[in-house]
Amino acid sequence: MEKKELHHYPSAELDLKSVYLGSEALKKAPKLYGVPTGIEGLDELFFVVESKNGTLKKKSLGGIPAYSVFNITGVSDTGKSLLVEQFAVKQASQGEKVAFITVETPANFVASALKLRATAMRLEFENFEDNIILIDAASSTRLRENIPDLLATLAYVIQNYKVRFTVIDSITGLFETKEMLARSIVRRIFNFLKKWYQTALLVSQKRSGHEELTAEAAGGYAIGHIVDGTMVLAKELIDTSYKAKIYKASIGEVIRLFRIDGCRMCGHDTKTHFLEITEEGLIKIGNPIS
Ligand SMILES: Nc1ncnc2c1ncn2[C@@H]1O[C@H](COP(=O)(O)OP(=O)(O)O)[C@@H](O)[C@H]1O
Ligand SMILES: [Mg+2]
Repeated sequence: MEKKELHHYPSAELDLKSVYLGSEALKKAPKLYGVPTGIEGLDELFFVVESKNGTLKKKSLGGIPAYSVFNITGVSDTGKSLLVEQFAVKQASQGEKVAFITVETPANFVASALKLRATAMRLEFENFEDNIILIDAASSTRLRENIPDLLATLAYVIQNYKVRFTVIDSITGLFETKEMLARSIVRRIFNFLKKWYQTALLVSQKRSGHEELTAEAAGGYAIGHIVDGTMVLAKELIDTSYKAKIYKASIGEVIRLFRIDGCRMCGHDTKTHFLEITEEGLIKIGNPIS
């Protein structure tokens, strides 16, 4: 671009590295395919619409879209950790390398949880245990409170172990004492994960004051607007006959629910589903409530 066209902004500097034609940007776009989650009933909920001989057809992706960054949110005890552990185990069992940043539970406890998940999934953890690389930000105040140090450590792990999948449980733990910074912290992590072509699940905690099935997490609406999609996990105490009727449950029972609250990378189911946590501690997505 010539200088004279710029005279309205004489002190500004152009950043032409950030300008792409549509076709140039598309060339850099990764192919859309599904990444199996290891969670029964979940992979079928994502789809693409393809054009065949002039008609549009819905085709299941068979997993979450590759290179997506998902927010997994819910109040405590809704199954968020189980869900991301199951995902990590599934990928590791397929020979993929997974970086698991643990922010709340020390790494050794997470490792035993991962082993339990594997056993419940009828998998031999010993066969792939080193495919999961744990980063213990729960025990390291420096990693937890210093995002550049955390991301530098993650970059090292990604490069050294050829990691393609990242789990953070939880990102809320990274801005516990500084909620005004939630947005900028999540944005930095999101941009980092995109740059390194990670498919990632970020757990975020909802405060119990938030409405159960909304995507709102601690830190306000910071997270949902930044990431590619959100899954909401909820539990509901059946305390009225109305609820007993709509959920086909009895008074005093607790039922669990699941919903995909948006995904900007592909089509997805929008219904609220029953969620089950089996006695072995496995998450399953059930039928939609109707
Ligand atoms: N190994 C297990 N076996 C059976 N149930 C489990 C097991 N682990 C967790 N649960 C159940 O799943 C619930 C959700 O666990 P978790 O994923 O840790 O929740 P969150 O991360 O959302 O706080 C627990 O409260 C418990 O009832
Ligand atoms: Mg948890």
